[in-house]
Amino acid sequence: MKFLHIDSSPLGSNSVSRQLTAHAVGALKTAHPEAQIDYLDLVEHAPSHLNLNSLGFRLGTTAADLTPVQREENDISERLVQQFIDANVVVIGAPMYNFSVPTQLKAWMDRIAQAGRTFQYTAEGPKGLAGGKTVIVVSTRGGFYFGKPHEPMMDHQEAYLKGFFGFLGITDIRIVRAEGLGTGESAKAEAITNAETSLASAVTI
Ligand SMILES: Cc1cc2nc3c(=O)[nH]c(=O)nc-3n(C[C@H](O)[C@H](O)[C@H](O)COP(=O)(O)O)c2cc1C
Repeated sequence: MKFLHIDSSPLGSNSVSRQLTAHAVGALKTAHPEAQIDYLDLVEHAPSHLNLNSLGFRLGTTAADLTPVQREENDISERLVQQFIDANVVVIGAPMYNFSVPTQLKAWMDRIAQAGRTFQYTAEGPKGLAGGKTVIVVSTRGGFYFGKPHEPMMDHQEAYLKGFFGFLGITDIRIVRAEGLGTGESAKAEAITNAETSLASAVTI
């Protein structure tokens, strides 16, 4: 069993999503002491945004034609996509940033969405190749969105992550949510307590 623990909040020890992913992975570790756990801090080690160096190898260039920088970027993409493919359970701390996800998380998603590795287009349409794993998204938000009239218009974080991992073939996507974190200290404490309660079932593998 392999777990992949990912954090993307830039706020270090002040981060609620980091606190909750640590809690989730701690519970997974207790239940599966034999599991191998990889940790990816996307703020400490963010892959660069896509550019000609990181996408060059997809332009039909042969490996021999890659520049040293392209080779290095290709290696980063390869390491990240293989690490994701190998994981049985992926726990992702995903704060809502401007109605979407932090750019560090988006940069990682851009590296792991690879035709022929995690999805492919077929005559019948797109096919996900990364099925069979569980993705636990720890979603943190300053405001409230879940079940609200503005949710379809404003939530490009949870909806996006569900769509993205679904596209890669993953059907077991679990959301642990702490929202309203910016609406006062008692609301924040209550949201964290509720998220910790819902974590208990979300980490049952
Ligand atoms: C740059 C930035 C953008 C944010 N954008 C939103 C937003 O669009 N909607 C929202 O509800 N909260 C927003 N927030 C609040 C965060 O989602 C909230 O503080 C959450 O706790 C962040 O997770 P963390 O504690 O793990 O860092 C934003 C916070 C920052 C710093």
